[in-house]
Amino acid sequence: MASTYSLLLFALVAAATVSEANAAQLRADFYSCSCRNLLAIVKTGITKALQKEARMGASILRLHFHDCFVNGCDASILLDDTSKFIGEQTAAANNNSARGFNVIDDIKAMVEKECPGVVSCADILALAARDSVVYLGGPSWEVGLGRRDSTTASRLDANNSIPAPSFSLSTLKQNFANQGLSEKDLVALSGAHTIGLAQCRLFRPHIYNDTNIDASYAKFLRSKCPRTGKDRLLEPLDRQTPFHFDNLYYKNLVQKKVLLHSDQELYNGGSTDHLVGKYATDRVAFFNDFAKGMVKMSRIKPLTGKKGEIRLNCAKVN
Ligand code: HEM
Ligand SMILES: *[C@@H]1O[C@H](CO)[C@@H](O)[C@H](O)[C@H]1NC(C)=O
Ligand SMILES: *[C@@H]1O[C@H](CO)[C@@H](O)[C@H](O)[C@H]1NC(C)=O
Ligand SMILES: *[C@@H]1O[C@H](CO)[C@@H](O)[C@H](O)[C@H]1NC(C)=O
Repeated sequence: MASTYSLLLFALVAAATVSEANAAQLRADFYSCSCRNLLAIVKTGITKALQKEARMGASILRLHFHDCFVNGCDASILLDDTSKFIGEQTAAANNNSARGFNVIDDIKAMVEKECPGVVSCADILALAARDSVVYLGGPSWEVGLGRRDSTTASRLDANNSIPAPSFSLSTLKQNFANQGLSEKDLVALSGAHTIGLAQCRLFRPHIYNDTNIDASYAKFLRSKCPRTGKDRLLEPLDRQTPFHFDNLYYKNLVQKKVLLHSDQELYNGGSTDHLVGKYATDRVAFFNDFAKGMVKMSRIKPLTGKKGEIRLNCAKVN
C-alpha cells in the first residue's frame, strides 16, 4: 500500500518534472545563431498587419491563448483538418471566431525565406502575441523560444480545454488551475479583454439573463443584439478603447459594464474582487501581472528537443 502510494507520488513528481524541464529549455536566444533576424521579421509582420487592422492584434493574442490551452503551446490550432484528425479550428470556441491564421502564415513565409526549416510556428505565434500587445500600448516581456510544432490536433481536446463565456468563477478557476495557472493569472490574463471584439451570440446570455449588469448598458446592448438574429454582430470587449491595451477593462468590471458573463464573474462578490479592484486603480500592477501571466501561459507544455517537428507550413504537418 505504502509502496503503491510512493510509486504514484514518484510518477506524479516525475511527470511534473518532465513538463517543467521542457519549459525550462525555452531560451530567449534560442535562434540567435540559426535565425538572427527572427525577432525583427515577426515584429515587421505584426506591425504591417496591425496598421491594416488594429483588431488583428487582439485576434493574434487570442490565437496564442487558444493554442496554449490545448495540449500546450505547440501551434496545434494552426493545423487544418486532415484525413487523420479533425483539428481545433472548428471546435466550439474557435469556429467562426478564431482569426489571424493568414497573418501567422505570412510571417512564417517570410521567416522560411530567411531561415528555412528552423523556426517553429509555435514560437512565431508566441512572439506575434507579445508584439501585438506592445503595438497596442501594453506591456512587453521576454519570450522564451525553442518550442516545436505538434504533428496532430484535436477538436475534442479544444472543446474540453478552452473556457466558455458561460463559465462561473469556480469553473474558470478550475479551468486555469488545470493549466497550472493561478487565480491571479486568471484575473490578470482576462485583462486581454481590454482589446478586441465579441459576437452577439456570445454575449447575449449576459445582457438578457444576468442581473449583475448596469441597466442602461444592458439596454444599449439589447438594442444592438436582439434575442434572436444578428448572431455575428460585434461589440467591443472594452466599450471605451477596444484597440488600446490599458486597464479600462477592470474599471468597466467595477461598473458592471462588460460584455461577457465570464468577465463579470471576476467581480461579482467573490474571491477575485480585490484583484479586479487593484488592477482598476493600478495600471502598473496590471501590466506587471499580465506580463508574468503571459510568460507562464506561453510555457505550458511546450514540445522541445526532438519532440514534434518544425513545420514548413503552419497549416500542415510536414
Ligand atoms: C477566462 C476565460 C476566457 C473566456 C471565457 C474568454 C472568452 C472569450 C469570448 C467568448 C470572446 C469573443 C469571441 C468572439 O466573439 O468571436 C473572447 C475574445 C477575446 N479573448 Fe477571451 N476569454 C477568456 C480568456 C482570455 C485570455 C486568457 C486571453 C488572452 C490572454 C483572451 C483574449 C481574447 C481576445 C484578445 C479577444 C478578442 C479577439 C478578437 O477581437 O478577435 N481571452 N474571449
Ligand atoms: C462551424 O460553422 C459553420 C457555419 O459557418 C457550420 O456550418 C458548422 O457546422 C460549424 N461546425 C461546427 C463543428 O460546429
Ligand atoms: C466540439 O464542439 C462542436 C461545436 O459545439 C461540436 O459540433 C462537436 O461535435 C464537438 N466535437 C467533439 C469531437 O467533441
Ligand atoms: C436565458 O435563460 C433561459 C432559462 O435558462 C434560457 O431558456 C434562455 O435561452 C436564456 N436566454 C439567453 C439569451 O441566454
